[in-house]
Amino acid sequence: MAGALAADPVAPLDFNLYMQGKFVYERNCIVCHGQRGDGNGEMSPTLKPKPRSFREGMFKFRTTPYGMLPTDDDLRRTITHGLSGTAMGAFSHLQSDEVEAVIAYVKSFSRRWRKPENYAPTMEFPAAPEWYKTAEAVKTHALEGKKLFATNCAACHGEKADGKGAAAVTLKDIWGLPAAPADLRQPHPRCGDGPEDLFRVLATGLSGTPMVSFEKVLSEEQRWDVIAYVLSIRLPSGPVL
Ligand code: HEC
Ligand code: HEC
Repeated sequence: MAGALAADPVAPLDFNLYMQGKFVYERNCIVCHGQRGDGNGEMSPTLKPKPRSFREGMFKFRTTPYGMLPTDDDLRRTITHGLSGTAMGAFSHLQSDEVEAVIAYVKSFSRRWRKPENYAPTMEFPAAPEWYKTAEAVKTHALEGKKLFATNCAACHGEKADGKGAAAVTLKDIWGLPAAPADLRQPHPRCGDGPEDLFRVLATGLSGTPMVSFEKVLSEEQRWDVIAYVLSIRLPSGPVL
């Protein structure tokens, strides 16, 4: 639902939904996200990136502005599609009522969900411009995008977009963990593969990380140019590690 609030912050917790959510969580999520929802499940020590702690109520992949709570649809997308290239798999076998219940349970870990000021309507996302349909035009725009990338992204993501920029080693997220800039050459970023998925990241930023919104820094046209550049250097089958 475009423009809808993430949820009603003052709605009383539905006890049956919560209990069903706990059941789903204990069978599917606890090994990584932990009993207390702090991201310290049994499997956590071996994983990079670490499973999210739900206690701070901060989520990277959203349709809401930076720092705001995600919508239920945002959480549903993460849970049913997973986050490519991480241990967060796609829970496509869960029924829709199970997903709804586990979302309610995830929310119970943080007080941020109880405060109306943490909620915001979804942002507006335009469709990719027409020129994305023509390979020649994409090439021309990618040349512009390359320059914008060098000045706005390379410090963190690296000149080659391999995630190894000069600032990369110093970056931390709010969970106190090193925040590794994404290797933008990979064919399947966590946000999704298409230009619109990348556009969403540039609009919303990834909450809790140094990847902030570029909405005020780059015009819409410039953002589409940068994205054309990123798509133009994408590797066919993932980076060589
Ligand atoms: C095998 C480990 C593993 C399991 C099992 C797992 N997750 Fe995750 N999950 C992760 C990792 C790792 C991340 C962090 C990925 C990142 O930061 O890029 C994550 C992130 C998340 C996020 C945060 C996404 C964001 O936008 O920040 C949500 C929500 C989530 N998981 C929900 C769930 C739910 C619900 C289940 C059970 C149905 C589940 N996870 C099961 C490993 C797991
Ligand atoms: C201050 C450092 C910094 C700058 C500048 C920066 N990024 Fe990022 N970016 C990051 C970090 C760190 C992450 C990964 C965050 C995480 O998951 O913890 C990231 C993640 C991303 C992702 C998400 C990839 C995925 O897996 O879904 C995209 C897309 C992205 N950046 C594009 C860009 C573009 C394009 C620019 C320039 C306009 C840019 N970034 C500028 C630090 C930065």
